[in-house]
Amino acid sequence: MNLHSLAIKCVDFELFLLDQTKLPHQEIWEKITTLPQMIAAIKELKVRGAPLIGVSAALFLAVMAKEGASFETLKKAAQELFQARPTAVNLMWAMDRMILKSVPKTSAELIKEAEMIFHEDVRLCLAMTKHGADFIHDGDGILTHCNTGGLATAGIGTALGVIRKAHEQGKKIHVYVDETRPLLQGGRLTAFECEKLKIPYTLICDNMAAVLMAAGKIHKAFVGADRVAANGDFANKIGTYNVAVLCHYHGLPFYPVAPYSTIDPQCASGKLIPIEMREENEVRGAKGSFGEVVWAPKNARGFNPAFDVTPATLITSFIFDHGVFNQAQLRMGAHLKS
Ligand code: MRU
Repeated sequence: MNLHSLAIKCVDFELFLLDQTKLPHQEIWEKITTLPQMIAAIKELKVRGAPLIGVSAALFLAVMAKEGASFETLKKAAQELFQARPTAVNLMWAMDRMILKSVPKTSAELIKEAEMIFHEDVRLCLAMTKHGADFIHDGDGILTHCNTGGLATAGIGTALGVIRKAHEQGKKIHVYVDETRPLLQGGRLTAFECEKLKIPYTLICDNMAAVLMAAGKIHKAFVGADRVAANGDFANKIGTYNVAVLCHYHGLPFYPVAPYSTIDPQCASGKLIPIEMREENEVRGAKGSFGEVVWAPKNARGFNPAFDVTPATLITSFIFDHGVFNQAQLRMGAHLKS
C-alpha cells in the first residue's frame, strides 16, 4: 500500500502522519505503530480535519489487518477510534464502513476498503472544488476560517480546495484567513498552505472580519464542516457561526463546503450534534513549534468548545461533491443522499 497526501503517507503498510501541531515551522513525520498512539494523534490534533481523521483511522485499521490482527481485535480498535473525537462524523462514517456496520471482511478486503476511502476522498474534493469555484469571481475578497485544505483531507481540500481551484483558474482573488483561536488552524495551517500554493492572503485575528466586511474588502465566505444535520444545520470549527452571522448582517454570501461523508442523516438538527469540549488550558495560552506561552492568570477559567453550530437559515448554498443546495433545498433534505 503506497498512498501519499499532504499530511499522511502509507508506505509499504507503515503509516506516517505529518504532526500538524508543529506546523508551520517544523515538518515532522511521525510513524504510527500502536492504537493508543493513533488515538492520541487524533485527540491531540496531530492529524485533524473531518475527512482526514476518518481516512487516517481507516488506514490504521488496514495496517493492523496487514499485521495479522484478528477480526475481533480490529472491531475493538474501530470502536475505540470511533470515540476518539465526537463531532466530525467522518470518523464514525469511516469506522462503520470499514467494520462496525459492514458485513465481516477479510484482511485483504479491509485493506482494499481503506484504500478506497482514501482515493474516494481525493475524488470528492475535486468534485466539491469544481462546483464551488463557479461561485468565485475576479476581484473577490474571500474570508475563510480554520483549515480546510490538503492538511484536512486526503485531497486538495473542501473550502480551501474551492479557493485553490479558483486561484488555479487564474481568478484574481485575495483570501482573508481567520487565525482561528484557540488552536490557530488558520494562522498556522491555512497560512502555510496559501504560502505553498502562492495564493494571495492576509492573516487576520478572528475579531477583524467585521471591519473588513464593512470596508467592502470581503465579498463572501467559504468554510468547511464537521457534521451536517438532516435539516442543513452544520457544526464546524468554533467561530464559524460568528462568520455566518457577520455575513448575514453585511448581506454577503456564506458557503459551507463538505463531502457527503460529513452528512449525518440520523441527526435531525444541529441541536443534536455532539460538541467536543477541550481543555481550558488551550484558552489560557498557546503552544506549538514556538514553545508554550500562558498569558492568562494560571487559575483563569476557560470555555473551550472545539466547534459551534451554524443554523441552515444562515447558509446561502451548501456545496457538496454531489451538488449545490440552497437553503430551501436543505430544509427539504435534498442534500441527503439515498
Ligand atoms: O479541530 P479540527 O482542526 O479538526 O477542526 C477542523 C474543522 O473544523 C474543519 O473546518 C473541518 O473539519 C472541515 S476540514 C475539510
